[in-house]
Amino acid sequence: MQNDIDDDVKQEKQFTKRKTMMNKKRPPTHMTMLDQRFFSDADLHERQQKLENEIKNLDLLALDISEDDLYDEWCDPETPRILSFEEIAAAAYRIKYGVEKTPCTHSHLSRVVDMDLYFKKDFLLNTGSFKERGARNTLMILSREEKAQGIIAASAGNHALAVCYHGQQLGIPVVVVMPRHAPIMKVNNCKSYGAVVIVKGIDLAESKRIALKLGKLFGLRYINGFDHPHILAGQGSLGLEVLDQVPDVDAIVVPTGGGGLLAGIAVAIKSVNPHVQIIAAESERAPGFAAAMKAGRPTFAECHSTLADGLAVSVVGANAYATAAPLIDKIVAVNEEYIAIAILRLVEVEKAVVEGAGATGLAAILQGLLPELKGKKVVIPLCGGNIDTTVLGRVLERGLVADKRLLKVWLTVSDRPGSLAHMCKLFSNAGASVKDIYHERAWLKSDMFSVQIQVVLEVRDREHAEEVTKIISENYEDAIFYQDHL
Ligand SMILES: Cc1ncc(COP(=O)(O)O)c(C=O)c1O
Repeated sequence: MQNDIDDDVKQEKQFTKRKTMMNKKRPPTHMTMLDQRFFSDADLHERQQKLENEIKNLDLLALDISEDDLYDEWCDPETPRILSFEEIAAAAYRIKYGVEKTPCTHSHLSRVVDMDLYFKKDFLLNTGSFKERGARNTLMILSREEKAQGIIAASAGNHALAVCYHGQQLGIPVVVVMPRHAPIMKVNNCKSYGAVVIVKGIDLAESKRIALKLGKLFGLRYINGFDHPHILAGQGSLGLEVLDQVPDVDAIVVPTGGGGLLAGIAVAIKSVNPHVQIIAAESERAPGFAAAMKAGRPTFAECHSTLADGLAVSVVGANAYATAAPLIDKIVAVNEEYIAIAILRLVEVEKAVVEGAGATGLAAILQGLLPELKGKKVVIPLCGGNIDTTVLGRVLERGLVADKRLLKVWLTVSDRPGSLAHMCKLFSNAGASVKDIYHERAWLKSDMFSVQIQVVLEVRDREHAEEVTKIISENYEDAIFYQDHL
């Protein structure tokens, strides 16, 4: 056990050292020819400025967009491409100087869930997600002409960050179209990488239509973030690293949106060891992959807002589906409560800040959707860490409520001196700490000498919550607990 811990600490230290070195300018001998910048800083800036000015002059919402404009030759549902192991191996080799191998460490939560859990920590990458793998691979294998023209993508978050960052690293012009709801922090980060950032579109589908049209108008290669074959190949490198780091893995639980990560990992791992179980974890509010499996092809599945916003894709990728469908062993749909609890556990136990999409694999286990994995060696990619600080604060509170560590209760007590003290003494004897308290005197039907009190209590865990609930109910007949109230 101590050896495992030492190994984990070593992996994390080596990762930080390698990442720091990589972020500095490294001598050309350490790179492949493909790692070298295409445009110099000045030329890149000039090309991006030109694109920005030309796009600015267009009325993007009034563009005349035809069916032909929306056709993406790389992602044609009529002729889906099946990803091969060789493409993944080549991608892994290609990106090795630009995307650092992330640690895959043993989890402190193993005992709690009765599994040998390992976390693959892609949230530690420069832009905070695994999307760098596919983005770098795709940019590196563009032709010279394509590199000179540049690429375009539509994304609300991690794919946009990844193409903007690696575009800047490789000297390739990048334009991203982000929907209006894209978090301001992600929009600003994309801009900080010098890319052309257009915030347009009521949702991702509209941003994608605009991006495809602009791609055709300006000769920019459109890069689908979860279905371009070179994106899938890059994502597969995560699977190869897992095989290297946990060779006797029994199962991997993969957060799934459009299916690119799932397809890449499934091919990488099943090609080497067909006995490893590949499990897809979706948000139950974005059930695109399960819908596709049922229909036998990618089909529309309505998405609702979810904590796992990175997984909110209404039609999964054609290449991703065709590649992954025959290889996956199970799909599970995770609820919001457990995604919040997973984020909370990762902060508290692993000291890791992970976004909803990245925490979905762990959420599936905490929700008890995978009992067959008990006693097995299981890897979970923590594949993204881009969560707004304000959202994180709210999620942690929700997580505490879902975890029954915050209790809300309404009590009616006498409005005479001493009754509040009596109530507080009761809470204190029960070991519950008062987080918030509010008096209601006006909107009451009880007698004039009563007051209703709303209290929020902090308790240790579920068992303690039950104990405290029982004590309060025994002492206050009319106590209403928030859960009963729902
Ligand atoms: C953090 C995170 N995890 C998982 C996914 C799902 O990846 P895919 O769309 O390839 O299924 C995404 C997609 O954006 C993501 O951002």
